[in-house]
Amino acid sequence: MARLSLWCLGGLLLCAVHLVAAADPLPNCSYPAIYGFGDSLTDVGNGIAAFPEKFKHAEIDPYGIQFPMHAADRYTDGKMFIDFLAFGIRRRPNYAILRGTAGDFTYGSNFAAYGGSARPVKVWNTGEKFTSPFSLDVQQQWFQRYKIRLWFYESPVYNPNGRLVQSLPKLSSVNSSLFTVWAGYQDYFWSLYEKKLTVSQTRKIVPEVVKAIEEHIEKILAVVEYTPPGFPTMLMPPATEVLIQNQLPLGCVPALLTVHGGSHAKYDEYGCLSDLNKISKAHNKLLGEKVEALRKKYPAAKLYYGDVYGVYEDILKKPADYNVTTPLKACCGTGGKYNFNKDVWCGDFGTVEGKFVNLTTPCANPAGVLSYDGIHTSNTVNKALATAFLTGKHIYPEGGFKCSPDFTFWDART
Ligand SMILES: *[C@@H]1O[C@H](CO)[C@@H](O)[C@H](O)[C@H]1NC(C)=O
Ligand SMILES: *[C@@H]1O[C@H](CO)[C@@H](O)[C@H](O)[C@H]1NC(C)=O
Ligand SMILES: *[C@@H]1O[C@H](CO)[C@@H](O)[C@H](O)[C@H]1NC(C)=O
Ligand SMILES: *[C@@H]1O[C@H](CO)[C@@H](O)[C@H](O)[C@H]1NC(C)=O
Repeated sequence: MARLSLWCLGGLLLCAVHLVAAADPLPNCSYPAIYGFGDSLTDVGNGIAAFPEKFKHAEIDPYGIQFPMHAADRYTDGKMFIDFLAFGIRRRPNYAILRGTAGDFTYGSNFAAYGGSARPVKVWNTGEKFTSPFSLDVQQQWFQRYKIRLWFYESPVYNPNGRLVQSLPKLSSVNSSLFTVWAGYQDYFWSLYEKKLTVSQTRKIVPEVVKAIEEHIEKILAVVEYTPPGFPTMLMPPATEVLIQNQLPLGCVPALLTVHGGSHAKYDEYGCLSDLNKISKAHNKLLGEKVEALRKKYPAAKLYYGDVYGVYEDILKKPADYNVTTPLKACCGTGGKYNFNKDVWCGDFGTVEGKFVNLTTPCANPAGVLSYDGIHTSNTVNKALATAFLTGKHIYPEGGFKCSPDFTFWDART
C-alpha cells in the first residue's frame, strides 16, 4: 500500500488505474466445514426427516424445481442461503443433522429446522395444533452432542480400528469452521400471519427474540467440558467464526402483505408494509448492538453481522439488475395481488373462492421473485445474500469474509 500511495502522487488518473491493476485478487473462500442454525430459511431437511408426513411437500415439486435432481427437502425453488455459502467456500452440500440415511456429513452439518423459533418452543407458541419442537435451544443441544460423537468416532477406544465408518469432519476442525445463525423469522412471521399478536405487540417481542439469539451465540462460543467414561475431563472446541444474519423486511413478504395489507395500511416506496418493516428494523438495530457487545466479550471469536435487510433492499431498488420481475409476488401461488392465499399453500391443492386450484406444478418464472411460495426466500435472494456476504457487501465488520466464492459446481448442475 505504501508503494501505491507514492504512485498516487503522480496524478489521480494514473493512481486509479494503478490501484485497479495492483489490487490482489480475492483469495478463495475456504473453511473445513459449515454449520447452520435457524428456521425454514436455513433448513435443508431436518423438518421432513423428523416429520415426514407434515413436511412432505418439501420433497416434491414445485419445491426444489431448480435444485439438482429435485428431491430437495428444502422450502424454496432451488438452493438455500446456506447451500450457496457451502459451495461458495468450495465445499459440497450441507446435510441436515437428522438425515440418518443418505446424508454426507464430511463438510459439516445443518441444525436448522422448519418452524425452529429463536425463543424456546414453550414460550413462542403454546396451544398450537402443531408446533415444531426444534427451537434454537434444542439445536444448540444437538451441536454439543455432535461434538461428543465426533470425539467417539475418533477415539481408538470407542471406535477401535475405525470400525464405525462415517464421513465426518475432525473434532479439531470445529473451531476453524464457519457457523451461521439466522433466526427470529419464525417468531415474527407466525405471530403476524396467525394474528396471534397485533403488529405493535409483535414489535414488543423483539427484545426477547434477540435475547434468545444472543444466548444461543454465547452457548456455541462456550468451551464446554466433557468427561468421557473412563477418560479425564476434556474441553470441547467451540465455534469461533459465526455469521449472524439479521431480519429481512417482514413488510415485503407476500403472505404478510396479503394478511396485513389494505386501505388502512401504510406502504413504503417499494409497496411494502411500513409498520412490519419497523419490526425488522428494531430487531436489526438491537441485534447489531448485541453482536457488537459479544465481540468485546469474546475477542478471540470472529462474529460477522450479515445485513439481509440491506441486500433485500438493494434488490427492491433495482430489481432488473437481479432479473427480478415481481418483487412482491410469490411465484407458487393462487393469484391475487401478491399471488398468495391462506387457503391453499404451495405444494397443495384445494378451493379458493369456489375455484379448484392445484399448486403442485412449477410456476412460470421462479428466478423472477424474492419469495418463492409467499413465505420463504427464493433461490434468487439466497444467492444474492451469499454473494454479498462472501465478497464483503452488507456485512460487518466492513469487508466481511473478503474472499472469492465459486458457485460453478452448483450452477452446472441446476
Ligand atoms: C481457487 O479455486 C479455483 C477453482 O475454483 C482454482 O482454480 C484455484 O487454483 C484456487 N486458488 C487457490 C489459491 O487455491
Ligand atoms: C481448536 O481445537 C483444538 C482441539 O480440538 C486445539 O488443538 C486447537 O488449538 C484449537 N484451535 C484454535 C485456533 O483454538
Ligand atoms: C440475468 O439474466 C441474464 C440473461 O439470462 C443472465 O446473463 C444474467 O447472469 C442474469 N443476472 C443475474 C444476476 O442472475
Ligand atoms: C395436480 O396437478 C398434478 C400435476 O399436473 C397432477 O398430477 C395431480 O393429479 C393434480 N391434482 C389434482 C387433485 O387434480
